[in-house]
Amino acid sequence: MSQSIAVIKGDGIGPEIMEATLRVLDALDCGLTYQHIDAGLGALEKHGTLIPQESLDAIEKYGIALKGPLTTPIGKGFSSINVQLRRHFDLYANVRPAISFPGTRSRYDGIDMITVRENTEGAYLSDGQEMIDDGETGISVIKVTRKGSERIVRYAFELAKNNGRKKVTAVHKANIIKTSSGLFLDVAREIAKEYPEIEFQEMIVDNACMQLVMNPHQFDVMVTTNLFGDILSDLCAGLVGGLGLAPGANIGEKAAIFEAVHGSAPDIEGKNIANPCALLLAAAQMLDHLGMNEKGDAIRQGIRTVLETRRDMVTPDMGGTGSTDSFAQALVEYVQSH
Ligand code: NAI
Ligand code: MG
Repeated sequence: MSQSIAVIKGDGIGPEIMEATLRVLDALDCGLTYQHIDAGLGALEKHGTLIPQESLDAIEKYGIALKGPLTTPIGKGFSSINVQLRRHFDLYANVRPAISFPGTRSRYDGIDMITVRENTEGAYLSDGQEMIDDGETGISVIKVTRKGSERIVRYAFELAKNNGRKKVTAVHKANIIKTSSGLFLDVAREIAKEYPEIEFQEMIVDNACMQLVMNPHQFDVMVTTNLFGDILSDLCAGLVGGLGLAPGANIGEKAAIFEAVHGSAPDIEGKNIANPCALLLAAAQMLDHLGMNEKGDAIRQGIRTVLETRRDMVTPDMGGTGSTDSFAQALVEYVQSH
């Protein structure tokens, strides 16, 4: 089997962590062919735009992209590439796993959960949808649709089903925001009936925040609307030790883009100390998405083993004495010996 994927190396530390990640994917023998495409600062210099049409065409053609972090230039006229990609491909599901690894700043052992956030509506609408904005009063709109809720809740249940997960928790505020959050909850209850084999739980968002901090092991897959998902997914990243280990995917019908949650870290660019774990975990998520769950698991188990047993190969941000290259090397050795 050979699957082509679009690869965006990214800016700043992007090329370093991408090289590390592709080395590990190669060692796993995933049968992937990499189509390198331009985006970000490099593309701006070459094509005069942050994301040229030919890059969008390539993502559309291959359907899968692995993306390093991109620097959004400061100043007017540059809208974030992430937002552009999300709109262009209608990437409605933002999927963020949170796994606790040994030897990190994770607050708990044994956390393994996924937040599925609706990514196209909710409280995050494009400009011009404010109801009142006169300097004295600001009223914004929250938009929840049946179609938008159905597809995100169904996505969460399918993800649970295909990955052997047991429970989906719908997080809402339907007791107060009755119209929009109420519709989301109604739809979640309906869709849940289609999946009797998966436990369904409802939780009000403020309680969910407390429960996540007090007793995170009760969660498996969490599905929620845009604003709540934005906040909860960062809370989950904090629970397992911060953004250095946080991968994410933006998924639509036509394309899926896998990336690290952190940025291009220009302060450590070119020093061979960037932690490649988040992008590696995004690659693992991509392999799961492509049906290669065992290879995805190999990356996650490899990271666990390297963090536990090869501190000399681990990057300094995780308390090790190694480098980006040595971490990749340790992971390649793990993969080759298993
Ligand atoms: P950042 O995430 O790049 O860096 C914040 C801090 O975390 C820095 O001290 C950095 O050295 C450290 N850090 C981040 N990733 C690391 C890694 N893998 N290993 C070790 N340390 C790491 O956030 P910042 O500084 O706010 O943004 C820098 C640039 O990245 C900006 O241009 C921003 O627009 C862009 N950005 C891009 C994102 C994307 O493409 N998905 C997401 C967030 C920011
Ligand atoms: Mg956010």
